[in-house]
Amino acid sequence: MKDIVQEAIPEQNLLLRKRSTDVELPMSAEDRTILASMMEYVLNSQKQLTAETYGLRPAVGLSAPQIGVNRRLFCMSTMDEKNEKLHEYAVANPKIIAYSEEKTYLGGGEGCLSVDESKNGLVPRAKRIKAKVRLLDLETGKETETVLKLSGYPAIVFQHEYDHLQGILFVDRLQESLPGLEPVRFFEDEQEAE
Ligand code: NI
Repeated sequence: MKDIVQEAIPEQNLLLRKRSTDVELPMSAEDRTILASMMEYVLNSQKQLTAETYGLRPAVGLSAPQIGVNRRLFCMSTMDEKNEKLHEYAVANPKIIAYSEEKTYLGGGEGCLSVDESKNGLVPRAKRIKAKVRLLDLETGKETETVLKLSGYPAIVFQHEYDHLQGILFVDRLQESLPGLEPVRFFEDEQEAE
């Protein structure tokens, strides 16, 4: 799982640029394993010691094309910006059905495990989204069809991973500045400002 597909390598970039296809439902054992391994990777990357030992960059999400599988599967695990709710999802066949007109962005810019770290930049995103998803509960193995309503940071993460399934990378959407848009503000930023 250490080998994340890289945009800078032409033959790997092809995999990142392909539109991924829906998986069959209920999910196959293989698709479930892919979701479980991707979630494990994300969670490990967030543990400082494991990440240092294995040289992982911290990540809040990972999509199947990034491990060379062009199927509509991704994982994300992050707290919201208020540090109140965990948004941890193993997702199959997502479809964003509504985008708010209001936009926001990540103040520090987005990053991606498939893109060289130096290429951070600002990406406008819908502030709120609604998405139809098939969720896999990795503990119970239960699948549920549901509509996720996300806003702020988790909505940005979801849109970033969703883009991967369309063959889009955040670097395609980079803007030098986003005047007039409010960036997502984190709980810690507010504390520092005091
Ligand atoms: Ni990415």
